[in-house]
Amino acid sequence: MPIVNRVADLQPDIQAWRRDIHEHPELLYDVHRTAGFVADRLKEFGCDEIVTGLGKTGVVGVIKGRQPAGNGDVKVIGLRADMDALPVAEMTGLPYASKTPGVMHACGHDGHTAMLLGAARYLAETRNFAGDAVVIFQPAEEGGAGAQAMINDGLMERFKIDQVYGMHNGPGLPVGSFAIRPGPLMAATDSIDILIEGKGAHAAKPNNGIDSVLVGAQLITALQQIVSRNVDPLESAVISICEFHAGNARNVIPQTAELHGTVRTLTPKVRELVAKRVREVVDGIAQVTGAKIDLTYTPGYPVTVNHAAETERAIQIAKDVAGEKNVHEMPPMMGAEDFSYMLEARPGAFIFIGNGDTAGLHHPAYNFNDEAIVYGTSYFIKMVETALAAS
Ligand code: NI
Repeated sequence: MPIVNRVADLQPDIQAWRRDIHEHPELLYDVHRTAGFVADRLKEFGCDEIVTGLGKTGVVGVIKGRQPAGNGDVKVIGLRADMDALPVAEMTGLPYASKTPGVMHACGHDGHTAMLLGAARYLAETRNFAGDAVVIFQPAEEGGAGAQAMINDGLMERFKIDQVYGMHNGPGLPVGSFAIRPGPLMAATDSIDILIEGKGAHAAKPNNGIDSVLVGAQLITALQQIVSRNVDPLESAVISICEFHAGNARNVIPQTAELHGTVRTLTPKVRELVAKRVREVVDGIAQVTGAKIDLTYTPGYPVTVNHAAETERAIQIAKDVAGEKNVHEMPPMMGAEDFSYMLEARPGAFIFIGNGDTAGLHHPAYNFNDEAIVYGTSYFIKMVETALAAS
């Protein structure tokens, strides 16, 4: 059984919602228009309960099945989409391109939101399941931990969610296909901010100073040894120092320098090891050079870990929608996702849906592929109708 027939009928509507959202992108928690749009649609569909303002600007819709939940473990399924855009200047030239300068839906969250709205409409229309389907529209996926904010506002307890499922589009993955893996799927991301206080001096008299530029250079080199010499070669870790600010004249050794970077890891063990070694390396270089080095190590999103049984269910449903040969096992990615917080709170799975041969995520020429809509919407629907099968 491939895509849901009724979803093919709904496709033009879902595509129109997607393009409307695309034209009006909003950042982080400031997704007021988008959240309003979502809440209005959920009202039109006849959701049983609509809650706004959860996690500042998140929206939740509850759709009750035509019969109460059975006696199984799973009575309430949460389906999640993200609503926020990125501070990227759009260069697609599309007729529905962003009307907000410097902001665009460069990660396809417009598509995720529209597909979940499509599923909500169908589920409210048919109610061919037992228990509750809870559609979750979160703000601030792009660095603001909107998922965490909604959980902190009681998302899981308030709606008695038993399992959660999320989806992201994947450029380069053919349209009509899915990719997923059990276990660690996406990385934890932590931030490194370093302030080096050396001693300014004349460029010709380095012996009178402590060269903050040289200290920074040594730090960057030494930090790279953590991945190559401390982390098990069969594990994964990335340390990227991407900003180095120092100096403003060729003949002045600057007093200070600043470094900023990111750490990506796939297990708590490696995450702890890297954090510990970064501190030790910073202390060591400070001692060797005599500079004062201030390190701020900030934990970000945790590892996105797919639960085994729920991933198996997701694979079966994806195969049902897209065909056996179009569901692939993927390697983990070093990108991060705040759906990780939801998977820490409840069992569930995160899946990638093919976006075809498009520009990459966060690129100014990226666009969500409307041809993927029928597959993503069908996946959400079948997830509910399968996990909460009516008798
Ligand atoms: Ni994204």
